[in-house]
Amino acid sequence: MAKRRRLVVGNWKMYGRLTSGLVLARDLVEQAEARKPLHFDMVICPPVTLTWAISETIMGTPLMLGAQDCHTATHGAYTGDISAAQLADLGCRYVILGHSERRLKHGESNQLIAQKLEAAQLAGLTAILCVGETAEQLASGSTTDIITRQVQECLPEKYRAAHLVIAYEPAWAIGTGQQPAPDTIAEVHKIIRQALGIAGETVQILYGGSVSPANAEAILLQDEVDGVLVGSASINSDGFWAIAEKCNA
Ligand code: PGA
Repeated sequence: MAKRRRLVVGNWKMYGRLTSGLVLARDLVEQAEARKPLHFDMVICPPVTLTWAISETIMGTPLMLGAQDCHTATHGAYTGDISAAQLADLGCRYVILGHSERRLKHGESNQLIAQKLEAAQLAGLTAILCVGETAEQLASGSTTDIITRQVQECLPEKYRAAHLVIAYEPAWAIGTGQQPAPDTIAEVHKIIRQALGIAGETVQILYGGSVSPANAEAILLQDEVDGVLVGSASINSDGFWAIAEKCNA
């Protein structure tokens, strides 16, 4: 079977204003151009306020654009929300869904995430579905059950595997400097592949949670790991590229 192409995703969260965001995007482009052709894919997910400006900056470069969330509907009376089709209009090709910050701080359920995923794929976006256990679930030994349920319940009946990426992001590892051992990450990725069935052979599975230039190599040396989803370390061009280059490991 052909090797899955690797993918590095930067989640800028709610960081960055117009000037700083454009500086970062231009830096990332400059470094991408200097390294062409890339043997992996790179996606940045800035705050939606920056998307249009950055879309113009990265057009025609190896960088691709993503968003951090979308609504379940295509349009309607949903004050403050943004649809997947509107993100596609801005040049987005990916959207992160089910991030633990949305599950825990906005009460998003697996069922809601499944509806968002369906809407995203209908709009032609690739969904980056985040799954992962909390510290309590880890302590109670329920990681396998939680992850399996999240994968099964967050995928609508007719999802398109070709437009799906899964990110294993333990909630306790996000922004904490802690993370599972690389072989534990590989084990969980295998569980995700099993839960996906036949699609598990082709769907890219990323790891996310406190990924840094110092630990990226050990994670990416795991064959099971098809890339990384990077939060705070992605808002520094040199740091993000130092991580991305480990994809060649
Ligand atoms: P972190 O965040 O790399 O800052 O831990 C990862 C994420 O939230 O996707």
